[in-house]
Amino acid sequence: MEKTIDENIQGTTLELDSKKQNTKKLYMESYGCAMNFSDSEIVASILTKQGYNTTNKLEDADLVLVNTCSIRDKAEQTVRKRLEKYNAVKRDLNPNMKVGVLGCMAERLKSKFLEEEKIVDMVVGPDAYKDLPNLLKEVEAGRDAVNVVLSKDETYGDISPVRLDSNGVTALVSITRGCDNMCTFCVVPFTRGRERSRDPQSILKEIQDLAEKGYKEITLLGQNVDSYLWYGGGLKKDFKSATEMEKATATDFAQLLELVAKAQPKMRIRFSTSNPQDMHEEVLHMVAKYDNICNHIHLPVQSGSSRILKEMNRLHTREEYITLIDKIRTIIPECSISQDMIVGFPTETEEDHQDTLSLMEYVKYNFGYMYKYSERPGTMAARKLEDDVPEATKSRRLAEIVAAQRAHGAERTKAFVGKTVEVLVERESKKNENEWSGRTEQNIVAVFPKGNHKIGDFVNVKIKDSTSATLIGEAL
Ligand code: SAH
Ligand code: F3S
Repeated sequence: MEKTIDENIQGTTLELDSKKQNTKKLYMESYGCAMNFSDSEIVASILTKQGYNTTNKLEDADLVLVNTCSIRDKAEQTVRKRLEKYNAVKRDLNPNMKVGVLGCMAERLKSKFLEEEKIVDMVVGPDAYKDLPNLLKEVEAGRDAVNVVLSKDETYGDISPVRLDSNGVTALVSITRGCDNMCTFCVVPFTRGRERSRDPQSILKEIQDLAEKGYKEITLLGQNVDSYLWYGGGLKKDFKSATEMEKATATDFAQLLELVAKAQPKMRIRFSTSNPQDMHEEVLHMVAKYDNICNHIHLPVQSGSSRILKEMNRLHTREEYITLIDKIRTIIPECSISQDMIVGFPTETEEDHQDTLSLMEYVKYNFGYMYKYSERPGTMAARKLEDDVPEATKSRRLAEIVAAQRAHGAERTKAFVGKTVEVLVERESKKNENEWSGRTEQNIVAVFPKGNHKIGDFVNVKIKDSTSATLIGEAL
């Protein structure tokens, strides 16, 4: 008995000591995709060991880190505006503050960033975060620091992320890094390098830790998850030269899904993003087989025109995509499907645009993310094709696909009215403090009166009404 008390006291003291040591303040902002948010949790973990605590007050920060996105010009402009803000705070309130840029813009602009934006002290690419302790020493000594080296094998599999802005219920777990697909519009293969997969054992361990902390849902994350292939480490493209043994014992995405589903039967499992050309039927069978793998597939298509898909170097046709959609509907009848779409890719005609609208009509996606084409320096499309669709045409086409998506979303959500769905409670509804907000396994937001339920509960909710994107119901 006494021993237990002693141990507790000792434990508390140790914890206080380690917090006391962390006196430096880190302010961090993240932009862009889920992968960036996941990376920021790795960076926070590395910096915690360097004596930093996070703060949400910019004016108090010793170090400001901004994790940046390059996917569209607008994303880069957003970061430039934030740098202006940091500049003003540094000038007026906090002259000793240091500023580092991380992520895709850091990788794209490299040391040019230091010239273009005087406020920046440090530039760190997505594969170089383990070098942060060294880079920070340089910065603290008053020198600029840059590391934008891309890696063949870095997956940060050995780093246990510090969860940021967490609801304690859902978490991101990264399983691959980089992308080999070379879609002609996309900057990601340049900023995040070649594709490599993370050791399944480290993935399982991270998820087990999350389960022990009470997390209820994880999303396996990668630019192209279906391409996951673990054969002992190294780049995916080098798999052909792996040994016979490595080939025979390799783990692909369907196998990884099964490992996770079996290891964590009580956890909801999601994955994102699937590129249609890399999705195998085996993955669909896993989703169908395991109740805890959510019936939702994010399946970006970008365009409904086979001609444009070819120009984009998406390695499938409209017809092959439709065949895949039909397969999903057969194997997983309850599956929701979502999309990413680009309008105004170079040379896109009115006929191509109509093909996109008719494909949307065929699939009737549950939801989607739609963008105007934004030319990215260095990509194949920027080098070979003129950005020739006028801005006004891009805007009109975007408005048309957004309207179509809204109508399809409304039709899909309405089909749930009268049904009972399982909702994992994530947060208070933004519109009504007396309601919870959560998601169904199809990844549709549902709200309902709080009752005695709490965040992290799985609740059976009877759906009474719907909007284009939200289900409205009551707990049973
Ligand atoms: N595989 C990635 C996709 C990368 S970017 C993932 O995991 O989500 C996300 C989406 O941004 C793409 O699917 C595409 O629809 C859009 N996008 C990428 N490059 C773009 C560009 N140059 N202009 C407009 N939209 C773009
Ligand atoms: Fe980009 Fe295509 Fe890869 S959209 S991230 S190059 S699958």
